[in-house]
Amino acid sequence: MIKKLSRQLSEKLHHFLADNSRNKWVYNYLYYNKWITGHLSFFNTGIAPVDEELLTLRPNDFENYQAQVYHETIKAYRRIASDKNSLTVLEVACGLGGGIKYFTHILPNATVFGIDLSFTSVYRSKKLCDAAHYAVANAHQLPFKSASFDLIVAVECLNKLDMDLFFAETERLLRPEGVLSVVDFRPMMFVDIQEKIKNICAGYSLHIKEITDLTDRVLEASEQDRVRQNRVLGRIPWGFRQVARELMVMPGSKRHTSYLHKLRCYYLFTAQKSSSL
Ligand SMILES: C[S@@+](CC[C@H](N)C(=O)[O-])C[C@H]1O[C@@H](n2cnc3c(N)ncnc32)[C@H](O)[C@@H]1O
Repeated sequence: MIKKLSRQLSEKLHHFLADNSRNKWVYNYLYYNKWITGHLSFFNTGIAPVDEELLTLRPNDFENYQAQVYHETIKAYRRIASDKNSLTVLEVACGLGGGIKYFTHILPNATVFGIDLSFTSVYRSKKLCDAAHYAVANAHQLPFKSASFDLIVAVECLNKLDMDLFFAETERLLRPEGVLSVVDFRPMMFVDIQEKIKNICAGYSLHIKEITDLTDRVLEASEQDRVRQNRVLGRIPWGFRQVARELMVMPGSKRHTSYLHKLRCYYLFTAQKSSSL
C-alpha cells in the first residue's frame, strides 16, 4: 500500500517536472539541490558510441555515456571542418557544465563559452570548470556580437526552444562556415523530425550536413549503463527516483518503451553556415 502510494506520488512529480521543463525555476531547483544533482556533471541521456570505443575521459569516467553525446557533436564537427588554432565555441544550455569541461579538454586551444537560462546552471558550471566564460541568457536572444562563433553546440534543449528564434540567433552568431551541432529528442518518429528540421533550416543560411538517428544508441546505453543508473538511484531521495528512471531511460520506464517502439527519437544534426553572408 505504502509502496503503491509512493510510486503514484513519484509519477505525479515526474509529470509535473516534465510539463514544466520549459520553466527555468525547475532547473534552478534541480541544479541547486545538491542532494538531487550534486554528484552529477551532466543532465543528458547517455548514448553508446556510434562508430568507435566508448569515450573514457577523466574525470568524467563515471558519466562516459553522457560525455559520449558531447563527443559525437565534436566528431560531427570534425567531419565538416578542421580545428583552427583559435576556435571559439558556444554551448547553449550548458546545464551542470560537464559538456563545457569536456570541450576545454578536447579543444585545448579553443575559447569556450556556456550559457543557460538557469542561474544555478551557470553557478554549477563555473564551479566545475572555470576555464570557460559563462552567461545567464535565453537561447532565443543571446548577449554576443554577430559572427562570434565557429561552433555552436546544443544538447537536449532544442525541444524547449522556439526553433525559428533559435535558428535565427544561430545564423546571426555563427561565422561564415561556422557549424551548429545539435543533439535532441522528440516524442515523434525520426522521419518526421528530420522533415521538420529540413523545412526550418531552409529558411536560414544553414545547410544541413547530417541528420542521424541515435535512438538505438540510447537503448544500448540504457542496457550497458546499469552501474551508473544504480549509483544515481541509490543517492537520490525516493520521490525523485521515478523521475530519474525516466531521465535515464531505464528499462520499464515510459521513455524506454517509446524509444523501443520508435515513437520517440534521439538524434544528432549538424548544419553549416554559408561561406558568404
Ligand atoms: C536537459 S537539460 C540539458 C543540459 C545540458 N545540455 C546537458 O546535456 O547536460 C536542458 C537545459 O536547457 C536549459 N534551457 C531551457 N530553456 C532554455 C532557454 N530558452 N535558453 C537557454 N537555456 C535553456 C535548461 O535550463 C537546462 O539546463
